[in-house]
Amino acid sequence: MASARGEFSSRFGFVMAAAGSAVGLGNIWGFPTQAASNGGAAFLLIYLVLAFTLAYPALMAELIIGRHAHANAVNALRLISPNSQLRNIGAATGIIGFIVASLILSFYAIVAGWMIAFCLSSLANLLGLSDLAAWLTTFGLPRNVLFMGIFIVFTIGIISAGVREGIERWSARLMPALLATLFLLVAYVLTLDGAMEGLRVYLLPDFERALSPTLIIAALGAAFFSLSLGVGTMLIYGSYINDDENLPVVGGLVTLVDILIAVMAGFLVIPAMYVALHNGVDIFTATGELISEDTLIFTVLPELFTTMGFAGIIVSFTFFFLMSIAALTSSISMLEVPVAYVIEEHGLKRKTAVFSIGGAIALASGVILLNFESLFGLVIAFTTRYSQPLLGFMFCIYAGWVWHRDQLLQELRKGSPEVEHTLFWKIWPWYVKLVCPVIILGIFMHSLWG
Ligand code: PHE
Repeated sequence: MASARGEFSSRFGFVMAAAGSAVGLGNIWGFPTQAASNGGAAFLLIYLVLAFTLAYPALMAELIIGRHAHANAVNALRLISPNSQLRNIGAATGIIGFIVASLILSFYAIVAGWMIAFCLSSLANLLGLSDLAAWLTTFGLPRNVLFMGIFIVFTIGIISAGVREGIERWSARLMPALLATLFLLVAYVLTLDGAMEGLRVYLLPDFERALSPTLIIAALGAAFFSLSLGVGTMLIYGSYINDDENLPVVGGLVTLVDILIAVMAGFLVIPAMYVALHNGVDIFTATGELISEDTLIFTVLPELFTTMGFAGIIVSFTFFFLMSIAALTSSISMLEVPVAYVIEEHGLKRKTAVFSIGGAIALASGVILLNFESLFGLVIAFTTRYSQPLLGFMFCIYAGWVWHRDQLLQELRKGSPEVEHTLFWKIWPWYVKLVCPVIILGIFMHSLWG
């Protein structure tokens, strides 16, 4: 059954695909800017602790349920439920998850479109086409619609090729390229004047700030968004892993790659901000707060690149190319969620499913662009701040309370016969049952009333 519906061919392929989903605009820009505005090293410290002790267990819940069911989230949650009431709640959770994944893609495609536009603008500069370069970096409806559309076409193209030919093949190619580019950029930025000040901010923690509740909540949210939790992405990727795979190990590898890239991105962006500051670019407001994330990436970094002269054009191209790649390996994982559901539930052909859902999402992005002021921030808040934590909570409840513990153990034993004697089995079931739900609910309530 598993191979008929597509399966990753190797551990490397799966880890690249899942890490590709996890690593996105959230890690490479969101994490470093949040770190910069939340005490630098203090945020880094808390993020590391929470990613390993909380996001990793929640990721495991999705991977194990997905691999057991070899199905999309709706059918998977139904399958592990003992009665019809829980089956209905499970199905509703899965359906809300795929709607939220689609909505995330509808704003993600807009931001990713800007990345492509900024990347092409560097090329235009290289060719001396300064008018075109300026148009590409100026906020405007035609540009926004065009590049959102281009990004969705790329996403559709990869997803319509299926799991092995599409998701795995492209993630395995793009992810190593992304890591290599990131290392080169970090090495380059660290040679510039001002970078050491950034490094100090990033590496010397202020322990008083590390314990502030706002910092902890922000770091938690960042970890959950960063690991693509709650919307069924990791569940559906888990459903494509073969039965011999040791799940706690591959889940751990994905978490490590995700964290590594976020931390590396911090080594790029935070020193780069201080290089820009050194070069006279405004980064902080008069009250000492960081200028908003959008403004930072689309104003401060290009200004930084300009100060580097000719090399800046190359660095700018590389950076925005990197952002576009990271966004693409995440967006394919978002589109796969609704696509897998309609293929498996309604028997649609993959191509038909991909084109119709991709088209609908492009339409939704268009509506957001036409009502940018009122809708853009709203959709981001609704999906990432409210829906993801609440859905993550539901997955933990299903893994910890609804699903029979023996079945869960059997599923884990398939790829790791000795799992009962591991630290993972001694800790994780309790974690996912008690600690994860309580803390996720805490995030949710904080974002509602905080
Ligand atoms: N993890 C992705 C990022 O960091 C975002 C994402 C969220 C991807 C939900 C899939 C599902 O950018």
